[in-house]
Amino acid sequence: MEDSIARLIGHYLDRAADQETYDVLSGLAYPLPVTVICRMLGVPQADEQLFHRWSGQLTRQLDGFSDHYDGNGQTPEWVHGEVELHRYVNELVADRRGSPRRDDLISELLAAQDGGDVLGHDELVSTIVLLLVAGHETTVNLIANGVLALLRNPGRLAALRADPTKASAVVEEILRYDPPVQLTARVAREDLRAGNATVPAGGLVILLLAAAHRDPEANPDPDRFDPARERVRHLGFGFGPHFCLGAPLARLEGRLALAAFARRVREPELIADPPPYREHLNLRGVSELPIGHAGVTR
Ligand code: HEM
Repeated sequence: MEDSIARLIGHYLDRAADQETYDVLSGLAYPLPVTVICRMLGVPQADEQLFHRWSGQLTRQLDGFSDHYDGNGQTPEWVHGEVELHRYVNELVADRRGSPRRDDLISELLAAQDGGDVLGHDELVSTIVLLLVAGHETTVNLIANGVLALLRNPGRLAALRADPTKASAVVEEILRYDPPVQLTARVAREDLRAGNATVPAGGLVILLLAAAHRDPEANPDPDRFDPARERVRHLGFGFGPHFCLGAPLARLEGRLALAAFARRVREPELIADPPPYREHLNLRGVSELPIGHAGVTR
């Protein structure tokens, strides 16, 4: 997919050339992953806009214990997003069942069998919803947090411009330093001790991945953004059996987008520092990232 992703990035950056103030979020970081995952799954392009909103609402659910759900008598927004997105994917799957097979992931999932066992309708819908949401709400923040860190560290931006092969190291350092997914959760199978706390069997454990990344024993001088560190240790994509399914895709999109940004956008500078942030607690990222620039090269 490298060529088609690079073409999309080229197209988004071409558009920046005409904009004195370019919002990196709405101009590049958001549309790239959403378009890639839609095309991969086979969601009609005309419908992409539809689920942007639902999926943005739905991700609030991942905040888990934030104050959006404090029982003020209103249905939380994310419930609306969840219902609408499931309804949409339900119809999409029903529609695709009856049509000829295409070269996309929905067709693959419809045809998938495991020892004669096929995915039930609800399983299919849930899987597609998961891929749609996980496939872009996170990568958006990888790209935007990456551009932000580079703009705050001009030396690193210049180094990437001079040597695009450094993009992979920048991506890994962003996953550590300003991770798109801040936390995850597990339920204890049995009583366990974590530090000074006892977690009873069945208890919920919230794991602050982003905090672990700042452990000086894991990463020396952890508060410094340094893509040149000898070894980057992070849990940005999780760990163990549930390790992120989309890590290779996210890494590819992040690497290509950051390298192209560094190469093509001349003298980029932040207009607001810090930029405004979304209210999300877990999927941490900016709500816009306006920059000024001196032009965009070919
Ligand atoms: C920078 C981008 C991304 C980040 C930081 C990220 C992060 C994560 C993390 C931390 C987990 C583990 C959750 C846990 O253990 O509780 C996870 C799981 C998952 N991710 Fe990602 N992800 C990204 C992109 C993607 C993409 C592009 C896709 C799909 C194309 C995707 C699909 C999934 C799926 C399906 C799981 C669940 C895997 C399982 O439970 O077996 N992710 N991701």
